[in-house]
Amino acid sequence: MEAYSEKVMEHFTNPRNVGEIENPDGCGTVGNAKCGDIMQMTIKVEHDIITDVKFKTFGCGAAIATSSMATEMVKGKTIDEALELTNKAVAEALDGLPPVKIHCSMLAEQAIHAAVADYKQKHPDKAAV
Ligand code: FES
Repeated sequence: MEAYSEKVMEHFTNPRNVGEIENPDGCGTVGNAKCGDIMQMTIKVEHDIITDVKFKTFGCGAAIATSSMATEMVKGKTIDEALELTNKAVAEALDGLPPVKIHCSMLAEQAIHAAVADYKQKHPDKAAV
């Protein structure tokens, strides 16, 4: 079995931004087609900037670590910048993931996309399309 990087272990044991934002501006819940695990992201948005983001997951350690890193990466970014975040960039920021766990990192990317889509749908006036 391939080992996890120190950064993965660190985010897994000490995940950032766990929980759920009350009255979020956007909420996205996605399931992983491969393992059936679930991820929810809630975001707070001001002037198209993600000011806060939290995640909850019924997912494995790799899903927790990638979501933790992904939330750190999108906080303070515009919603359109957040849409450009890829699971590959998240995995790279964590110094890589074992190939069998790459699908786990998709949850974070997809949940952020879903939360931003939800925000745009609820705020069609504010969202830059
Ligand atoms: Fe399901 Fe990792 S095994 S998210």
